[in-house]
Amino acid sequence: MTPRRAALLREMGLTPLWRLRAADGDGAVDAANIAASAPAVVDNPKRESADGRIAAPREPLMPVAATARVNDSPATVSPVAGGAPQIAALDWPALEETILACRACPLCERRTQAVPGVGDRGARWMFVGEGPGAEEDRRGEPFVGQAGKLLDNMLAALGLKRGEDVYIANAVKCRPPHNRTPEAAEIAACLPYLDRQIKLVRPRLLIALGRPAAQALLGREISIAAARGKRFEHAGVAVTVTYHPAYLLRNPLDKGKAWEDLCFARRLMAEGN
Ligand code: URA
Repeated sequence: MTPRRAALLREMGLTPLWRLRAADGDGAVDAANIAASAPAVVDNPKRESADGRIAAPREPLMPVAATARVNDSPATVSPVAGGAPQIAALDWPALEETILACRACPLCERRTQAVPGVGDRGARWMFVGEGPGAEEDRRGEPFVGQAGKLLDNMLAALGLKRGEDVYIANAVKCRPPHNRTPEAAEIAACLPYLDRQIKLVRPRLLIALGRPAAQALLGREISIAAARGKRFEHAGVAVTVTYHPAYLLRNPLDKGKAWEDLCFARRLMAEGN
């Protein structure tokens, strides 16, 4: 193991490391061995139910056209003209322009700017977070704050790098006030944008970071604890889930589980899903 890789795993809270003597040098096997040797995790049901800034949604997901009604919203909020079908036809420049000008839900009112997404538009890996935080709202790029640093380390531990074979987007493109969890109707209002990003990128694997992202991609409420290590699908693309980096910063004991999830993702990718 290179010193850099050891440092990355240390950053994820995954030392000390033990390797199986039979490890054959293949990257995937190596990763699995490291996962198996991750430190024991104290199981804490209370912590598991709090997997990543999440509260239970108050209403079922609903289409963008319904959001104005649901949110009892001020006049400045209006569904995108043409709604989801129109968004589904946009190319990258038009999609980003539409996201930046979006007023489909009340999150538009307090944002500095919308944050469409970043990375390789032909990536095989696509990570989906929850929504921009303060730093992202200011800079217009996803995951550039503290959680972003951990995400970069998670990518590096997988041999990936932001911008190279990775695209990063969020379930909602505008910052929820005070970093609160986005509501189900807000996730639904933004879903046509995420769907279009997925269609344009055509990733081989989607990784949902935390519960709102999983909710957006799976179309239903799930707990990360229950969904980890499983393969789902969204629009014909394989999906797996793990904890949100912000949750891992607050709950470092669960970094071992996140590493297992990344190893599972790597296996899915290696096996062609
Ligand atoms: N958390 C997210 O879910 N997304 C970001 O872009 C930043 C923090």
